[in-house]
Formats: sequence, structure tokens, C-alpha cells
Amino acid sequence: MAEALRGALLPWFDASQRDLPWRRTKDAYAVWVSEVMLQQTQVDRVIGYWDAFLERFPTVRALAKAELADVLARWSGLGYYSRARNLHRAAQEIVARHGGTLPKDVAALRTLPGFGRYTAGAVASIAFDLEAPLVDGNVARVFSRVLAIEGAPGDKAREATLWTAAETLVRGPRPGDLNQSLMELGATVCLPRAPSCLLCPAQKLCRALAQGRVGELPWPKKAARKKRLELAVAVSHQDGAVVLARRQEGGLFGGLWEMPAAAIGPNPGDAALETLLGERAAIGPELLVMERTLTHRQLVLHLHPVDLPRRLPPVQEPYVEWRWVTLAETRQLGMASAMTAALELAVPRLLAAAAPPSRRPIPARRHATGAAPRAPRR
Ligand code: ADE
Repeated sequence: MAEALRGALLPWFDASQRDLPWRRTKDAYAVWVSEVMLQQTQVDRVIGYWDAFLERFPTVRALAKAELADVLARWSGLGYYSRARNLHRAAQEIVARHGGTLPKDVAALRTLPGFGRYTAGAVASIAFDLEAPLVDGNVARVFSRVLAIEGAPGDKAREATLWTAAETLVRGPRPGDLNQSLMELGATVCLPRAPSCLLCPAQKLCRALAQGRVGELPWPKKAARKKRLELAVAVSHQDGAVVLARRQEGGLFGGLWEMPAAAIGPNPGDAALETLLGERAAIGPELLVMERTLTHRQLVLHLHPVDLPRRLPPVQEPYVEWRWVTLAETRQLGMASAMTAALELAVPRLLAAAAPPSRRPIPARRHATGAAPRAPRR
């Protein structure tokens, strides 16, 4: 089976692969960055970020020397910021331990921050032509169907079977192309819903197709309930500037900039914000509410207008700094996209609320459960 599948995949990949920028380089650093970006982000979106990132940090050394805040800023909008933190830390280790070049060895790669089995396999095979296996979601789907592998995602026995299949298949010439052909097939033909089996190079070999079970394999994921996280967010806007705060490292949004926010728990939002910002903060009633679905959480942001003095009170945990920044400057800082969206929604609302009645625009429809805009309490 392995030889027949390899024989079907490689010629198909040669004829049908997408022309992607990172496929035109063998620079291991550039390949590594692309693989990290592609782990949780769609190809179309990655292209622009990959170009810009490599222009700003063209080598491992350049990345290692950069400030983490700068790296996070260039990652802003891609999400999953631990990827950027690990990339930065790994670059520093590669400089310290390997003279600035990625080691050509799977075991050595695996010791670097962020290098799981997938990333090590991808870099080793694509950049170094090593016979290193990899399994990602696309590959798992292809194998599940072609080899009729049962079991739900996360099931230990299933994972082991998938990795064994990947190991067997990658042995031979062109391991990097072989791995990429599997990912490419999963991304363009062997789609989760409505796969194009008629166009598939593996159609004669596919057990699921022969058994009429393409729709049943792979088994669906058991849905995990997302934890709800409700935050009261302080929108302090004055003369084209807003207050942004940088979170300490670690955890959700660690190291990123955002409008100061406090978890709503036993205390309602305005009380939680007062604890964070001190008594001199004049906290207005809720301006609007927005919801965002993150990977593991349902995020609910309750936006409050807050009057803060020009001289801000001393910074409080979980933040390591806060300051007034101009709206133009906010684009230079690494912000999570949920917080950028909140800022972009809130500021026009505040401006509309502050405008004199004659110039006030007709109120937009309420956003989610948001209350009508009101001026902050003075
Ligand atoms: N997804 C992640 N990396 C990929 C690659 N190198 N080719 C195709 N799809 C991918």
C-alpha cells in the first residue's frame, strides 16, 4: 500500500501543488516560520504575514535580537500568540546553542521551544530532506479515509496508528514533498465536507471510498464546551488617544496590549474596573457588549467608557505597564484581534455620544446586548 500511495501522491503533487511562496525556498528558517504560521491559520492569510515577518526578521539572528514586543506586534492578528513567543525563544536558543542555524536533526529540533512532533517533522523533511514523519489535521483526514482508520480525534490508539502510517510512508526519496503532498491533498481535495474523490490521485487505493464511508471518516471530534470569560473593559478616550495596557507574560493575551480589563465575577463590571483603576477613575455605564469565540473560550467584553486622569495611577496586575497612546500608535502595538475590534467599535460610539445633539448621528442599531451610548460620568 505504501509504495502505491507514494507512487500516486508524488506525481500528483508535482502537477497540482499550489504555488506558495515558502515552497520557493529551502531556507530552513523561512520554512520554519511558514510552518508555525500555518499551524492554526489559513494559507491565504499566512502569505502576507509571512512576507512581512521575514522582511522585518530576515534571519534567525535578527529574530533572536528583536524585542518580544516587536515580534508580537508583527504577529498581531494571527492569534495563538504562544507561537510567536516560542518562535522568539527558539531563535535565541538556536543562536546560543547552534550558532544561528537550525540543527539538521529531529531530536535536536524537538528540544527547542514550540517544536512539537509536527513542526520538527515539517522542518526536517521540507528543509533538510530527512525522512521525518508528520501528522496534522489534513494528513489525519487523508489517512483516516485512505486507510479506513477508526477512532475519534485525540484517541491514543488512533494517534499512534496515524503516526505509524506517516512514518512508513515518508521512507523513500523526496520526504519533504511526500509530506507536503499529503497536506496538500487534505487541503485541496480530501476536504472535510464534500471531498473531490473523482479528482483524487488515491481514489483507487482509498478504503473509505471503496466502502462508501467517506462521509463517516474521520470520526467527528467530541465537542468540548467552551468556558465563558466575561471581562469589563475600560474605554478611555480623550483627544485622539486611548489608554492601553500590556499584560504580563503567560496565559490568555499574555504580553499583548489591550484596553484595561477586569474579569466580571462576584463583582459587577464597574466595580471590577474600579478595583483595577482606582477611585479616581469615573466609570460610565456599559456602552456595548461584544462576543468573540476563541479556541477554548467564549469571550464576552462589556465595554465601559472610563474617564482617567492624564497622569495614570500606578499599574496594577495583571498588567506590567499602561499608558495613553494615540490611535495611530495602537497599530504599532501587538494587540489581540478581539481587543482591536473592541477598540474600533468603541471609539466611534464614544465620539457619537460626545457630539452635541444637533450633530449626533441617528443611533446605529444596538450591538448585541449593548445599551444605548451615553457619555461617561464625570
Ligand atoms: N499546511 C501546513 N504546512 C503545509 C505545507 N507545507 N503544505 C501544504 N499544507 C500545509
